[in-house]
Amino acid sequence: MKEIEKPYIILSAAMTIDGKIASRAGDPRLSDEEDWKEVHKLRAEIDAIMVGKGTIIKDNPKLHIKYHEHDGYYRIVVDSNLSIPIDSNVISFQPEIYPTIICTTENAPNEKIKMFEAKNVKIIKFGSGPQVDIVNLMPILYNEGIKSILLEGGGTLNWSFIRNNLIDEIRLTIAPWIIGGKEAVSLVEGEGFAKMVEGPRFKLIEVNNRDNYVVLKYKKRDR
Ligand SMILES: NC(=O)c1ccc[n+]([C@@H]2O[C@H](COP(=O)([O-])OP(=O)(O)OC[C@H]3O[C@@H](n4cnc5c(N)ncnc54)[C@H](OP(=O)(O)O)[C@@H]3O)[C@@H](O)[C@H]2O)c1
Repeated sequence: MKEIEKPYIILSAAMTIDGKIASRAGDPRLSDEEDWKEVHKLRAEIDAIMVGKGTIIKDNPKLHIKYHEHDGYYRIVVDSNLSIPIDSNVISFQPEIYPTIICTTENAPNEKIKMFEAKNVKIIKFGSGPQVDIVNLMPILYNEGIKSILLEGGGTLNWSFIRNNLIDEIRLTIAPWIIGGKEAVSLVEGEGFAKMVEGPRFKLIEVNNRDNYVVLKYKKRDR
């Protein structure tokens, strides 16, 4: 695959033993306070957090930092038609510390763009396909000064990054229970690869455990 100029991407998630990142009813509460503290520490070190539209609609996260000193960062939402609610926390909560960028497509209605811009949201409109072209979006974000991104899901957006071999590092918390359910969102959704050799490979670089939680760190490895 051709190398592109892109931000360093760290996939960060908490999942159950059986690989689910939320229950079938959308309950996302997997992390304990210690885990949140670690994730917030990681947030303090990057230029942007990125999430998919599904995560905004289901969880309405603030994507902020509670536990550490920091200088703020961008919150980036990937939303092909600009359909997240205008009163989402990523729009209204502390935009002066965490400015929000929505990456969308030519399909986004102009009146919606104006509504979000009126809230000081930066809109990056790119490509006319059904979904945001994340591969070609990467150099655009890089040239905006975003050199590192913490990708915080959900499963559908994670698949787009995995499919295009864009993940440099993974930080994964395994929470000590099993939730099951084919409707429960997994760490990586999408169609998946047919063969093991097709998927990107990672090298395990760190294993930590405490209170029944396990934290794994991986780095991208050449095939
Ligand atoms: N445990 C954890 O660490 C964790 C972290 C994050 C999220 N979650 C959970 O994950 C769930 C949400 O995951 P999800 O899979 O439903 O949604 P998602 O991955 O957050 O968002 C997917 C949506 O993003 C939009 N999108 C635009 N361009 C895309 C592209 N190139 N590739 C992929 N998506 C693109 C699509 O909607 P449009 O086509 O309409 O734009 C797509 O449906 C929630 O239940 C949340 O709790 C858990």
